[in-house]
Amino acid sequence: MIKVKLHKNGETFEGEVKENSNLVVRAGIRQFPFPNLSFRCGMGKCSTCASKILAGAEHLPEPNWKEKKILGSRLDEGYRLVCQLWVTHDIELTQDVEPIKTGV
Ligand code: FES
Repeated sequence: MIKVKLHKNGETFEGEVKENSNLVVRAGIRQFPFPNLSFRCGMGKCSTCASKILAGAEHLPEPNWKEKKILGSRLDEGYRLVCQLWVTHDIELTQDVEPIKTGV
C-alpha cells in the first residue's frame, strides 16, 4: 500500500491507497482523499486538482502535455495535476496553494 499525506486548509489528511491509484478517481468515488482533495474535470483541463508535491515527486512520471499546457512554469515549482497521476510510491502533497487560473 502507498501512504498519501495531503495538506489542505491547514490540516493534514493521511491515508493508504493501492499501488497505481489515481487520487482524483478515488475521490470521485468517495474514497480517501475524499472529501479533502479539490478536483473538478478529472481530465487535465480545469486545474482544480493542481497540487504542490512536497515529497515523492521523484517517483512520478514526466508531466504530460496537459500538465505542461496548464501548469507551465509552475511545473518547475513542483506543481502537478493530480488527476493526471497514478501514484506508485508514497507521496505528500499540498493544495494549500494559490489556485491556478485557466479560464475553463
Ligand atoms: S481535475 Fe481538472 S485538471 Fe485535474
